[in-house]
Order: sequence, then C-alpha cells, then structure tokens
Amino acid sequence: MEIINNPTQTEIKKAAKALMDGQLVAFPTETVYGLGADATNEKAVSRVYSVKARPTDHPLIVHISSINQLGNWAVDIPEYAIKIAEEFWPGPMTLILKRSKFAKDFITGGQENVGVRVPSHPVALALLSEFEKLGGLGVAAPSANRFGAVSPTTAEAVVEEIGLECNSDELLLDGGASSIGIESTIIDCTRAKISILRPGAITLSMIEEVAKIKVCAKTSSNSRKFSGNFKSHYAPKASIILSAAALPGDGFLALSDVETPAGVVRLAAPINSYDYAACLYYAFRLADLKALTRIIVIPPSGEGIETAILDRIKKASKK
Ligand code: TXA
Ligand code: MG
Repeated sequence: MEIINNPTQTEIKKAAKALMDGQLVAFPTETVYGLGADATNEKAVSRVYSVKARPTDHPLIVHISSINQLGNWAVDIPEYAIKIAEEFWPGPMTLILKRSKFAKDFITGGQENVGVRVPSHPVALALLSEFEKLGGLGVAAPSANRFGAVSPTTAEAVVEEIGLECNSDELLLDGGASSIGIESTIIDCTRAKISILRPGAITLSMIEEVAKIKVCAKTSSNSRKFSGNFKSHYAPKASIILSAAALPGDGFLALSDVETPAGVVRLAAPINSYDYAACLYYAFRLADLKALTRIIVIPPSGEGIETAILDRIKKASKK
C-alpha cells in the first residue's frame, strides 16, 4: 500500500480520483479505519470483499459527505431518521434505511435495506466531498481488517491487517489514531420500532431523546446479517477473559483506578469510558504483539458507551 501521512488537499483529490477509477483507498474515520471503494462499482466492491476475506452476503455501509446525499441511497426515510441524522451526523452513527435503486445487491448483500453514514473525521469528509465533486455517489467502507479480526484504529494497524493483501498502488491515508476507537452505532430505521443493531458512541438514550420514540436495544427475530450474528468478531489471537482473577504473565486491561495485579502485563490504563473505548483495540493488538495468551479484561460499568465496550469485549471473547 502507498501510505500518505497527513494528506494534503491535493493528495486527498488524488485519492478521490483513485476511488473514481475503481481503486481501493483505506482512510481514517473517527470510529475505526475503513477500506473504501466506489459503492456503485461492483468490481471495486468485490475487491474489498476479497482483501478482507469477507463473506459476500455481509452488507457494507455507504459513506457520504452530508445528509444532503442521503436521498441518493435511501427512500421512504422516516421523519425520526431525519431528526437523528440532523443531530448526530457527521458522527459515529449508521442508519439502516430502505434502499434506493443505486444500492445494489453487491452493497446490501441482497437485502432491501442499506446502511448509510456520514463520518466526522476531517480526512474522511474531505475525501467524500472530493469524490462527490467528481460525480461519485458514495464510498462503501467496511472496517479495514481481515474478516472477524480486530478493527484498525491507526494506519499502522491497517498495514498489519491487510498490507500484504493490497497492491503497492492502493492508497492508505494516515490521519492519526481514531478518536472514538469502536465502530459506529447501527440503527435500524426500517420498522415501526427503532432498534440498535450494534451499540456505539451514540447511545440509546441519546437517540431516544432526539427521536422522541422508544428505542429497542436489539432485534433478535431477524435474519439480517450484522455484527453479532457471528460467533466471534473483533477478536485478537489472545483469549479474552472477562473479569477473572489475573495470573502473572496475563495481559490486563482495566480503568486506571483499578490496581495492576502482580506480575501481569498492563495493556492500558484508560482514565474514563471514552478513553477506554479509544484504546480497547490498541490493547488487543498490543497483547498479540507481545504474544500473550490471555487478556483479563475488567470492563467499565455504565449504560452509555460502556454498553458498546462490553458488546465488543464479549464478541472478542468468543472463539
Ligand atoms: O464505524 C463504522 O461503522 C466503520 C467505519 C469504517 O465507518 N465501518 C464498519 O463497517 O464498521 P463494517 O462493514 O466492518 O461493519 C458494518 C456492519 C456489518 O456488521 C454489517 O453487517 C452491518 O454493518 N450492515 C451494513 N449494512 C447493513 C444493512 N443493510 N442491514 C443490516 N446491517 C448492515
Ligand atoms: Mg468490521
């Protein structure tokens, strides 16, 4: 991959042109790094699947530069979805809506719904705007990791994950570490009841307050493919063990006010829940780098972003 550090406007334009030409571009978002392709180009999108070794019926999120582009991708958008989009975009939230004619089966995995997000990272927003200026409609971008592995929150982690799979002319925009560190909240807006398919930094109570509608934590009776329908996800090589006693030689992750047990390798000491989310995947990667076999994880308690942190830890702990 060609890595471009702190890309200039000219370099971002070049990356947008590369996307238009059907090339892949990995780019930073505030949640995690994405592996981008022109969402209308079937060949480019199929390359995303092959680089990630991802099953093709697993749908992709389309990224756009603003709510003004939403009508290209979705139809019959409910009023409450507009309200939450206006409030939380650009930001770490994906809306699942009824698809338009542009959201082809190769994006939606054959479903009648499409996932759409406006990210807030300045490099992502600049890339999407330049891409749209060239006539692009949207950029499909899953997290830039191999299927089932830990999402990358830095450019180095992207190289670790997919560097070998990518060609030397495929681009990676390095925009520093992702500030949020876990993937966007996914909200199903296709039914009478709103439900959260994947928790994230935009929390249930934040959505309820703006939408003025009751939100369900998760749909269970639904055959759709989303994170969590798979046994293991976000998983490092080390085994993740929740809230157990740590033994010497174990990796250890907990808030900074939790004392470090004797003999463990402290992977991070986040000062609050937001900091915890931001360093969670880094801590997982560090454990693998140090070839640890177990990570003892003490999650933060709470019902905001803590719900999302616990969701990722639980999924990563399943092997
Ligand atoms: O924060 C994020 O959302 C990151 C950054 C790069 O934007 N992207 C991301 O994409 O996490 P990915 O592909 O790794 O995870 C997207 C999840 C998948 O579990 C997928 O199944 C679900 O979103 N998804 C996408 N489209 C969907 C749809 N139409 N219906 C239900 N779930 C959908
Ligand atoms: Mg992913």
